[in-house]
Amino acid sequence: MTEIQPWWSNSVFYQVYPRSFQDSNGDGVGDLDGVTSRLDYLADLGVDALWLNPVMVSPMVDHGYDVADPRDVDPLFGGLGALERLIDAAHARNIRVTMDLVPNHSSSQHPWFQAALAAGPGTEQRERYIFRDGTGPGGLHPPNNWVSVFGGHAWTRVVEPDGNPGQWYLHLFDAEQPDLNWENPEIAEDLEKTLRFWLDRGVDGFRIDVAHGMAKPPGLPDMRNPDLPMLTLDDDDPRFNHDDVHDHHRGIRRVLNDYPEAVTIGEIWVFDNEDFAKYLRPDELHLGFNFRLVRAGFDAAEIREAIENSLAAAALADSTPTWCLSNHDVEREVSRYGDGDVGRRRAEAMALVMLALPGTVFVYTGEELGLPNVDLPDEVLQDPTWERSGREERGRDGCRVPMPWSGDRPPYGFSDTADTWLPMPPDWAALTVAAQDADADSTLALYRRAIALRHQRGDVVGRPVEFVDLAPDVVAFRTAGMLCVLNAGASPVPLPAGELLLASAPAVDAVPADAAVWLRLDDH
Ligand code: GLC
Repeated sequence: MTEIQPWWSNSVFYQVYPRSFQDSNGDGVGDLDGVTSRLDYLADLGVDALWLNPVMVSPMVDHGYDVADPRDVDPLFGGLGALERLIDAAHARNIRVTMDLVPNHSSSQHPWFQAALAAGPGTEQRERYIFRDGTGPGGLHPPNNWVSVFGGHAWTRVVEPDGNPGQWYLHLFDAEQPDLNWENPEIAEDLEKTLRFWLDRGVDGFRIDVAHGMAKPPGLPDMRNPDLPMLTLDDDDPRFNHDDVHDHHRGIRRVLNDYPEAVTIGEIWVFDNEDFAKYLRPDELHLGFNFRLVRAGFDAAEIREAIENSLAAAALADSTPTWCLSNHDVEREVSRYGDGDVGRRRAEAMALVMLALPGTVFVYTGEELGLPNVDLPDEVLQDPTWERSGREERGRDGCRVPMPWSGDRPPYGFSDTADTWLPMPPDWAALTVAAQDADADSTLALYRRAIALRHQRGDVVGRPVEFVDLAPDVVAFRTAGMLCVLNAGASPVPLPAGELLLASAPAVDAVPADAAVWLRLDDH
């Protein structure tokens, strides 16, 4: 008997970074009517669903991850009406729309936080956040040694209503993103309202920000290693992955069960497979982002290990594996793999690896164009990481530069103004959608063919992935009637038998270095 798989289990999601996709009103910042105007492009690319980075009302200190009103769309992005237009137009093209949801923290401009500041210590308003007295004489020092993911202390001291320095509040990210106190039932009740608000408007699900956050350990014990940079790679870090977080996910799932077509995808920076799989139990999240391919270098052993590990983690929870090469928080893969032509060729090869694998795939804005990271000058940097790290970490702006659509100079059809929110490089003319449309060998053309072939292959969900040892520096695996071969070495390897379906570089009788191919296998 064939089990019917949910729509998302074999889908290609496209992550739209709304600020950078398409500007419709000439203010230099992308918006939702801009996304709507480019839906035919996304339909042509073959994507099944969108994930929109946060579009709720926000002072935009962390570009929308600081939410001041979770049940409205920021005017910068066109307001609620623009989202409704986008949902209708996307659904008319059979494209689903998922949104980012930020349950771990709010903006400091959220009325709750403003009320907490005004009400003072010991009040119920403060119970919605994590306020503590400081340590040392006069409470001069922070309550513990936790650091912010963006650099500096994770605590900021407030001035009390009487004008004196007083309590400290916790913020795992920027000081303008106070962490919510999930021990207070009001937080979950309010999130339920938010979930229903969007689901009732036709949203098809949520990407859940910092899904391994939310629950903090009792007593807030010190970190053993507060010097680790950025997003933690240390699974013992007390700031994240406390077991109570699973209750919160169960609460979210209970709401989602009223909307059986909707999906939740957790951002889970947890690397122990058993721990990761807990988030994907049948009464928790549907999917979890697996970042192993993002962390793997262009190295056969690392790539194979990343794939095996992701498959194993998903299998532990009987869940669907997920795959991504980049997102709005990491250096673009073209640059990670060596930049220039080499970086682009390797990124194209890795796209074929990712799109061959069974499960849910996420493609990030501009990845299909092979965009590199951009070295931006100090004065335009906006990521809070830059200032919070004492200008040591440049932050994530370099992977968020707007999409080039057409023309030979900035803003390349992205906007009517060249004064875009991040400057666009003068040398991107060959990377525009229009230029790549006209080139059958472009990265865009390869993505389109690969996604189309992936769809034609039909249901690859749950099909085993069987690795084949072809040569050193090669990753090869069979799945669902196909062999995918990646050559991560320096010299060509002979092309195995089988009908050549797709190649990231010309492959007559060999797979060139830094390339990948798909071959149809006879026995299917
Ligand atoms: C997640 C988001 C990141 C954001 C942070 C704080 O890691 O992906 O962009 O800055 O959460 O909300």
